[in-house]
Amino acid sequence: MRDLISQALRQEGGRLLVLDQRQLPRKEVWVECRDVDQMIELIRGLAVRGAPLIGVAAALALARLAAAGETATAWRAAAERLRVARPTAVNLMVAVDRLLLAAGHPPKLDRMAVVDAAETIFDEDVELCEAIARHGVALLGQGETILTHCNAGALATAGIGTALGIIRRGFEQGRVAHVFVDETRPLLQGARLTAWELARAGIPHTVVCDNMAAALMASGRVHRVVVGADRIAANGDVANKVGTYGLAVLANHHRVPFLVAAPRTTVDPACPDGRGIPVEQRAADEVLGVACGSKVLRWCLPRTAVWNPAFDVTPAALVTACVLDCGVWSPAITPDFMGWLKQCKNK
Ligand code: MRU
Repeated sequence: MRDLISQALRQEGGRLLVLDQRQLPRKEVWVECRDVDQMIELIRGLAVRGAPLIGVAAALALARLAAAGETATAWRAAAERLRVARPTAVNLMVAVDRLLLAAGHPPKLDRMAVVDAAETIFDEDVELCEAIARHGVALLGQGETILTHCNAGALATAGIGTALGIIRRGFEQGRVAHVFVDETRPLLQGARLTAWELARAGIPHTVVCDNMAAALMASGRVHRVVVGADRIAANGDVANKVGTYGLAVLANHHRVPFLVAAPRTTVDPACPDGRGIPVEQRAADEVLGVACGSKVLRWCLPRTAVWNPAFDVTPAALVTACVLDCGVWSPAITPDFMGWLKQCKNK
């Protein structure tokens, strides 16, 4: 197995290591992933997160299992368990299905083909991020201030990220001057992870609480909103971290362009529209308080009722443009997303 190195995932000397994102930015702790059930726990617990990265990580975990000589039956059962570790990001299912296809018809298990497919998924994700950034940067003016939500960066992909990839390359070219980062309640992927990435890249940024976005946009300081996606339906509706839909409504009201950045692995042609996207519901504890190291600081009464969807769905009509690796789709100009995508991929 080849060595593969990214910001949050490493396949090195035959070992698979993940950066435990729950501990950022306090500590950079790498965890060795020894089996598929551990990878499922790492993904469910958000140690490994972000739509493209969970697909890549799942693929590499399955490749290790195949290479280790697991029986074909047990390998397929592990693949089915991993496939449903999180329900919303379709990249996970796309990656696992690609490996199942590479494995061949049961009872066959083509171990070399599985390893090759997993490593190709890693390489392709790096390239997809760069292609998204190229298309996205071309849309930016000079010295823009961008508002982003959650973390769609190098921590969420094998490459430079999707939304943050555009921001990173845009900054290098003088097109991005400043980034506002939504803290992203309840698990603070913006405040903890995106701010960490931007600091490391030397990109000026300011963290805001999610409920400040309206006032921030009203102040006229945001030129553009750029976010990632976990699943894009066939009609262009976009599932992303909860709070994204609110930002899209605000952007529409304030006439601020709203961009969604994603690789083709995030598009789900089998899902006709946003109503068909399964939205993950997470534990009440995430909202009732916060984990501080090994302790939980609870600010609500323990049995307080909680609604905690991890994602929401933004209708395509609120998206100014979807920046994919193959090009830029504008719902207002070309309403037929699938038709556009087919042409775009064939170019
Ligand atoms: O729950 P998370 O942290 O996995 O959610 C991540 C997001 O919503 C990201 O915006 C999305 O996966 C795109 S990452 C390139």
